[in-house]
Amino acid sequence: MLEGYAPGFSDDALSMMTARTATDRAGFVLRLLEPGMRVLDVGCGPGTITRGFVPVVGDGRVLGIDLCPDQFPKESTVDFVAASAYALPVASESIDLVFAHALFEHLREPALVLREFRRVLRPGGTLALSTSDWSRAVLRPKTVNVVAALRGHYLLRRRAGGDPFAGKQIVGHVEQAGFADIRSHARFRPDMPYRDLARYVEARLDAALTASKVDRDQLASAARSAWAWSHSGDGDFSQCWIELTAVR
Ligand SMILES: C[S@@+](CC[C@H](N)C(=O)[O-])C[C@H]1O[C@@H](n2cnc3c(N)ncnc32)[C@H](O)[C@@H]1O
Repeated sequence: MLEGYAPGFSDDALSMMTARTATDRAGFVLRLLEPGMRVLDVGCGPGTITRGFVPVVGDGRVLGIDLCPDQFPKESTVDFVAASAYALPVASESIDLVFAHALFEHLREPALVLREFRRVLRPGGTLALSTSDWSRAVLRPKTVNVVAALRGHYLLRRRAGGDPFAGKQIVGHVEQAGFADIRSHARFRPDMPYRDLARYVEARLDAALTASKVDRDQLASAARSAWAWSHSGDGDFSQCWIELTAVR
């Protein structure tokens, strides 16, 4: 089950991911880890969050899994494996905790991935997800150009099979998948400076416009708005992350 993965792997996307740490992104998970645990980080990207689990689980096992192995660090104490979240190369009921940060917003079939996470978790094992919800992102000022550019950004996310508002749906999906004791809260983080976000959105809209034969008018208009946003004054951006834990 392949999605397009809208952010891609250009320098701006990769440097955003590699700046992430377990302390900042997975504090709610670090509290649940114990020595000896077997942990999966699915959609681990460059693995900078994944690596932060190792000191806590000690002689346990941490495995990072991602469809795109080019991002994996060349040398690491963590094992990284190229695989799909829809078909994990892991035995049933063999994992104590499955973590995924910024994965579900890129999935076409979240229910199938949750079924796979349930398969690999042992009974009583923990699911821990952090999923963004662009519908609750805070942008100040939120000008007409910001709104129009983001509309184009969401269009690209959806065209790639994802859901920019996935954080809003995630509790429902986890309930439907049969997990128990679901706890969730919203955490707001300034993921990147306001005008860096404008440039990030603009770059993706420009690339899509070059490559795409459909939605051209909509993309061109959104790209013009993104350009105006990126050349405007400064502001604030905080992304809304839904952090969730549940029990298998
Ligand atoms: C936004 S990045 C997040 C990376 C990392 N978890 C972080 O937060 O820094 C999403 C990652 O999910 C991976 N991905 C997307 N769809 C996937 C799938 N079906 N199976 C495994 N990985 C997938 C992408 O390759 C990408 O590395």
